[in-house]
Amino acid sequence: MKSAPWWKEATIYQIYPRSFVDSNGDGEGDLVGITANLEYVQQLGVDAIWLSPFYTSPNKDGGYDVADPRDVDPRFGNLADAKKLIDRAHELGLRVIADIVPNHFSDQHHWFQAALKAGRGSAERARFHFYDANPDGTPPNNWISLFGGPSWSQVEDGQYYLHLFDSSQPDLNWENPEVNADFEKTLHFWINLGVDGFRIDVAHGLVKEDVLKNHPDPQGLSNALRLDVAMDAQARNALLLTVPYFDRQGVHEIYRKWRKIFDSYTDRQIMAVAEAWVHPPVNATRYVRADELHQVFNFDLLTAEFDALVLYDVIDRSIELNATVNALPTWALSNHDSPRVASRIGSEQARALALFVFGLPGSTYIFAGQELGLPDGELEDSDRQDPSFFRTKGKVKGRDGARVPLPWGGDSTPFGFTTGKPWLPISQSWQEFTVENENQNPKSSLHLYKNALSLRQMHLTGQGGIEWIESPQHGSKSNALLIYKRGDITVLMNVSDIAQECDVDGKLLVVSSGVVDPHNGKKVIPARSCAWFIA
Ligand code: GLC
Ligand code: CA
Repeated sequence: MKSAPWWKEATIYQIYPRSFVDSNGDGEGDLVGITANLEYVQQLGVDAIWLSPFYTSPNKDGGYDVADPRDVDPRFGNLADAKKLIDRAHELGLRVIADIVPNHFSDQHHWFQAALKAGRGSAERARFHFYDANPDGTPPNNWISLFGGPSWSQVEDGQYYLHLFDSSQPDLNWENPEVNADFEKTLHFWINLGVDGFRIDVAHGLVKEDVLKNHPDPQGLSNALRLDVAMDAQARNALLLTVPYFDRQGVHEIYRKWRKIFDSYTDRQIMAVAEAWVHPPVNATRYVRADELHQVFNFDLLTAEFDALVLYDVIDRSIELNATVNALPTWALSNHDSPRVASRIGSEQARALALFVFGLPGSTYIFAGQELGLPDGELEDSDRQDPSFFRTKGKVKGRDGARVPLPWGGDSTPFGFTTGKPWLPISQSWQEFTVENENQNPKSSLHLYKNALSLRQMHLTGQGGIEWIESPQHGSKSNALLIYKRGDITVLMNVSDIAQECDVDGKLLVVSSGVVDPHNGKKVIPARSCAWFIA
């Protein structure tokens, strides 16, 4: 029997290179630092790493502003270091997923510099979205950047260029065939260097429509699109149905071409996962049709409350929608763009939810530091570096809290991350979360993750779908438990603040926190906890 491709039910560990390990004392993590610590990652029991961008970049948006997609930024090392990292990962049995950022380049990319010089109407400007100002001097339309402020900036000769993100991130014009040709070159470049897949940044954004039309509520729309802005779900959903620059049909043609490239490496199983936050949710399935990409992120768990009904709806819907295109879902509780899950829903809840999700079919993404139960870092405004903080004049605090470097060991900050001054401060209170400390503490989050990932591998990978044993009822106030069965394993989560008695057979394998007590022939699941039983 042919075994399933490696990515089908993988666990993938997201490394934000700047925050992992600094090898040379400049306060910023780098590729040599990652390579030196890949054994730690392997011992977690994950299948792959995903590296956020480490390409040449002025770093206005944490490297998602790429000035040369086929080279390494000196702050992270060089191409030889990248090659060593990939080779070492492979030696350890880990696959490597690289980030690719096709919606925009940095304004420092030579294409954009050439466009500035070449002037209006030139072939150089046709690689971006340059337009003349309105007769009154205002930008071509009223769109607002996802980082705040107008999504147009003016150049010396009066033309405006479009940037959905920072003004240093000009959007590329995907109607120009040169753009795709260049990205195909980039894909081949990294595959040839050894990477096993790609995470496609803003995968739903490449194609724009109605670039000269105003939107009726540009500010509302921009808020609705931000994971870190809270909003009433109905209001958000209504706005999300009106985005003119996301999820246009044309993006799918691009991914069909890319899929042919991936498949042309017949002995390699190259995969791609789309960062595509689209609405309605059913649209996400289009990205994973058989001739397109392999996975699409499901962002719902990044904002879902710790509530039985909410979680049930999100999980059940994702499994069902993916099944319609024969794909498996993906799960993520944290990433570099959203508050850390332990801060957002609480640390016990975060452990319970991780254990609950590890049992589900599909792939799970783990953001480095999540395994330690790290909270968001506490930062002063003077520490902040996120462009959204600057572009909203401090109204939006931004994503730096989730990007504070990892604490490795020792008694005082920066806990082995660097011998210098870390680029974001690491609180002294993080001593309890160091890898060294958690390794010694059998009740730590790190132990839970290792244990759960190895049990997942042993009992669940490839076991097919789940069967809900207890699902919450709409309109009922007593929705405390979520229970599903998969293969021989029963997974129970108690989202309430009171221990719950359950009728469950089998032997306890793991519990996320607290102790499972027997009572009257039943099992008592602690508050805010999840447990796995084996038949
Ligand atoms: C994606 C990245 C985010 C970045 C943005 C613009 O959403 O995850 O970090 O700021 O794209 O490239
Ligand atoms: Ca460094």
